[in-house]
Amino acid sequence: MYFLGIDTSTTSSKALLIDERGAVIAVASNPHTLQTPKPLWSEQDPREWWEAASASIRSVLKKAGIGGERIGAVGLTGQMHGLVLLDEAGNVLRPAILWNDQRTQSQCDEIHRIIGKEKFIQITGNVALTGFTAPKILWVKENEPEVFAKAKHVLLPKDYIRLKLTGEYAMDKADGAGTVLFDLKARDWSDEVLSALEIPREWMPKTFEGTEFTGHVTEEAAQLTGLKVGTPVAAGGGDQSAGAVGVGAVEPGIVGLTVGTSGVVFATTPSALIEPEGRLHAFCHAVPGMWHFMGVMLSAAGSLQWYRDALAPDVSFDDLLREAEAIPAGSEGLQFLPYLSGERTPHPDPLARGAFVGLTLRHSRAHMTRAVLEGVAFGLKDSFTLIQNAGLGTITQVRASGGGTKGALWRQIMASVLEAKLVTVNTTEGAAYGAALLAGVGAGAWADVASACRECIRITGAVSPVEKEAEAYRKSYAVYRELYPALKSSFGKMGEAA
Ligand code: XUL
Repeated sequence: MYFLGIDTSTTSSKALLIDERGAVIAVASNPHTLQTPKPLWSEQDPREWWEAASASIRSVLKKAGIGGERIGAVGLTGQMHGLVLLDEAGNVLRPAILWNDQRTQSQCDEIHRIIGKEKFIQITGNVALTGFTAPKILWVKENEPEVFAKAKHVLLPKDYIRLKLTGEYAMDKADGAGTVLFDLKARDWSDEVLSALEIPREWMPKTFEGTEFTGHVTEEAAQLTGLKVGTPVAAGGGDQSAGAVGVGAVEPGIVGLTVGTSGVVFATTPSALIEPEGRLHAFCHAVPGMWHFMGVMLSAAGSLQWYRDALAPDVSFDDLLREAEAIPAGSEGLQFLPYLSGERTPHPDPLARGAFVGLTLRHSRAHMTRAVLEGVAFGLKDSFTLIQNAGLGTITQVRASGGGTKGALWRQIMASVLEAKLVTVNTTEGAAYGAALLAGVGAGAWADVASACRECIRITGAVSPVEKEAEAYRKSYAVYRELYPALKSSFGKMGEAA
């Protein structure tokens, strides 16, 4: 028997097939386009996700040379927080408003005003941030009343794929919590928050633990995908919690560090802990009955990508990184602020901007590259420090994953900046792999998520901090910490000038 994980990410729809021992058999992926019709906006057409996902399912089965009847269960994951608004019949009413859309600051302020910021944190575990789903619903209500009037269902990206596969409106609890319309402790919708924001309770789907089955593949979906009618579909989880399952960050003490476009520091919590000021996200885990903290920086490897595209498009990443290796830790005083798409943790500020600070005639491109790598590592340290101080007990291991951790130089910089040993694991397919494991647990292939992870995930390498570098970084980090507060009000004015 095989298990299928489907990841509806921002860039693509990936389908990944594993066997009962957790070995990856085949992967297929089809890209998505992204629309930014106005500054701060970020949208996608959910129908494009379904086209891409169904094509990926067909091709992964073909690549593996197996029929749909061999799939024991499907698990879903995807980009979190994106608002998918549907009418009574399940038709898409407007493009989905994505996790990295920044248009809703005034709705966030409104939520805090209506409910009270402290109370909102107490119920949902979080402050209202522009990326989250709740303010997006209010934005549609205020700006597109004709769309709002037709709305009958709210889903998240992965759950639109679920609807197309099974005909069911359902959501996992991890992603549900990321709407910030959840009662975090109760692991379900908060009637109090929904009614205060005048969002109809009937619009919200039933929610499930990550390994529970939420429905079965329909005749129509079977024809489109090659799956068998009746194949069970597990709840799965938002990409961060499913990604944590995919690297085995499923118990307190094991911290996940994911450096993709965004950068995430993730820590499992055994109860609904919250950071009193809401500086860390606190959501349900895809592991049944568990929760997690998370710090999110919006441009991690995305910063390096931007830097190369904008300033060195003809140079390979390898060459850029090789140059940077020769520069001493601390980039001779040059700093980079990675707030290219605003920031979430620890500065929830959609208007924050990126910056090189401290350029002198001495600085070369190699210094600038190294400063980008270090600035991102400092941003991750902000989240890591909040997690270290969140009362979780000792961090026993940091599991690093994502494209940004593939290169030795950046991994070493991160270890020395965080002053923690980073380990890598054999599983590199992230959230799709976690979703497939969740499906496998649902189907009974493993007793629970922790045993699935123990059986399938192995440590493959480790990198420790270098004391001399760590010392240099302590000094640079202290300067880095001063820069955002010093520039905050200028960033705001730059936004007005644009
Ligand atoms: C998490 C978040 C991002 C998206 C990216 O809170 O917004 O990680 O899920 O896909």
